[in-house]
Amino acid sequence: MCGIAGYIGPKNAAQVLIVALERLKYRGYDSAGLVVSEGGKLHLRRAAGKLKELDAKLAAQPLSGHCGIAHTRWATHGPPVEHNSHPHLSADGRIAVVHNGIIENHVALRRELEGEGVVFASQTDTEVVPHLLAKYYDGKDPVAALRTVLARLEGSFALGVVFADRSDRILVAREGSPLLIGRGREPKAARTDDRRSTEGGTPWTERELLVASDIPALLPHASEFLTLEDGQIADLGPHGVRITTFAGDKVEARFRPIEVTAEAVSKGSFDSFMAKEIAEQPSVLTRLIDSRLRGGVLVEPDLGLDLASLRHIVFLACGTSWHAALLGKRFLEALARVHVEVDISSEYRYRNPVAGGDTLVVTISQSGETADTLAGLRLAKSKFLPVVGLVNTVTSTIAREANGVMPLLAGPEIGVASTKAYTAQVMALYLFAAQVAKAKGLLPRDAEEALVAAARALPDLAERTLKLCEPAVEECADLYSAAQASVFLGRGGEHPTALEGALKLKEIAYVHAVGYPAGEFKHGPIALVTKHLPVVCMCPRDAMYEKMLSNIQEVKARAGRIISVGDAADRDLRDLSDHLLPVGRAGDELLQPILSILPLQRYAYHVARRRDCDVDQPRNLAKSVTVE
Ligand code: AGP
Ligand code: GLU
Repeated sequence: MCGIAGYIGPKNAAQVLIVALERLKYRGYDSAGLVVSEGGKLHLRRAAGKLKELDAKLAAQPLSGHCGIAHTRWATHGPPVEHNSHPHLSADGRIAVVHNGIIENHVALRRELEGEGVVFASQTDTEVVPHLLAKYYDGKDPVAALRTVLARLEGSFALGVVFADRSDRILVAREGSPLLIGRGREPKAARTDDRRSTEGGTPWTERELLVASDIPALLPHASEFLTLEDGQIADLGPHGVRITTFAGDKVEARFRPIEVTAEAVSKGSFDSFMAKEIAEQPSVLTRLIDSRLRGGVLVEPDLGLDLASLRHIVFLACGTSWHAALLGKRFLEALARVHVEVDISSEYRYRNPVAGGDTLVVTISQSGETADTLAGLRLAKSKFLPVVGLVNTVTSTIAREANGVMPLLAGPEIGVASTKAYTAQVMALYLFAAQVAKAKGLLPRDAEEALVAAARALPDLAERTLKLCEPAVEECADLYSAAQASVFLGRGGEHPTALEGALKLKEIAYVHAVGYPAGEFKHGPIALVTKHLPVVCMCPRDAMYEKMLSNIQEVKARAGRIISVGDAADRDLRDLSDHLLPVGRAGDELLQPILSILPLQRYAYHVARRRDCDVDQPRNLAKSVTVE
């Protein structure tokens, strides 16, 4: 969702901030802006639409200060127009605020302020914050003013604040929305040419300080970071970073090295992050599998749990992560005979779920910041249930709040459409199920060897599948990119693949697409079939193969266009289908969905390109959904 960035240091703040916004834009945004504090004034630039609009404004009216904050907005209150974009200013133009989240009591606060004569310039919930700050700031203690304001806010927020009369200070506060603070290396020596202070020419001898909603936007300037916790304020300036709680208690600022490199968050030679991330899947899978083995043998994850006594698991997830969870259920049931429920986080959190003390809750999230999944985690913890996080971003809130963490190790995923994180989640769940089975004594040595061999063979098969399927995928994209709708059918382990294939097509190519369990299709949706409807049928040679062939026959009998996903050498399937997207065959049938999804990711990508869609930043979507 929206992104926040901030910078204080010797460099041109606006230039640093615009690069930071570039790195945050994958989270989803509809407008952007920044403010620089210099010469006793705040200098504001904002623009609706893409970042290039803001770039153009900055090029026309460049800024030269060294301290500023910036924002990419994903509108919740008020349309995405320039006057609603952040930063928002106090009426006297002396205080500027950026905000991620929702101020839930903004209506009451706005009424109060309007009653005192304040004129609002936007429709946002955010704008109450700079006006309240102006009301409480005495010109001496900005932190005290912020603390007073925070006591009046309800809702979730990450806030960044700068002041016209403090051109070397940024204040930030967090309650419910992610916020990181970055710190540069120790300066070797103060050089007066590029190490000017923000105040009158004295050298800037402190480390550069940055603020961002996530790590990519701290790069390349910061070498270490810390995560601001809920209920904390940080005061950044020449004194370094001072952290206090909302109540005023001091907190030690503990920085950790940043391990992500700038290359990991760039597209390299690819035309999009999505294309890069699809191609990375074989190496991501290899890294993940290696991390779960020692000497070729499965090692038990360090979760502080007795896996042998696990009887009942609840998976909580949203979107693509929920599709991975559906496969996780199959794996745990098949290998470890554990009873599993899969819940969509936004549903779970508002039920009063029945949960025995022997239930393990596993939250699955690429970002680790999804608000609904985090709320599900907190609900589970309030019921004293142990919670494990299967996350890609190990610095995330879910990773920090879960009792145990299983990292995906997929590297930063920037494309809004999840690809490499999905296949990594599926593999991680397979290996977790195997670990549970082993702990329970249900995985004899030879079965473990076969399972590990099947997992280890998969990255190569994925690599070959990506090459093998490409020509047929492109041909189908050429033929069907104009189709108004598509259906995806699969059975067993391929049902989640069908759901995921449909989601990919919807979210990046804006084609209405639905996934069904193929056996359910005849109970109504088959009425949709005409000769214009592409029906993507998942038909690898698994236990459901024969049943799936019958389901394909049913569609064919009604003249639907059959695009099958299956074995390249499968003559029967090829004869039955209009097109066959060939995939490799996994050594363990349970792993087949990792191969089957690959042509569907590429299909969505190619259809999106042919429809002139922005594959990395689809309309209306945010990479990490930090609001409800
Ligand atoms: C995936 O392509 C989607 N953009 C979306 O469904 C995503 O999987 C969902 O928002 C969950 O995100 P998370 O894994 O970061 O929690
Ligand atoms: N609620 C604020 C707005 O609508 C912030 C939204 C965001 O997090 O980008 O402006």
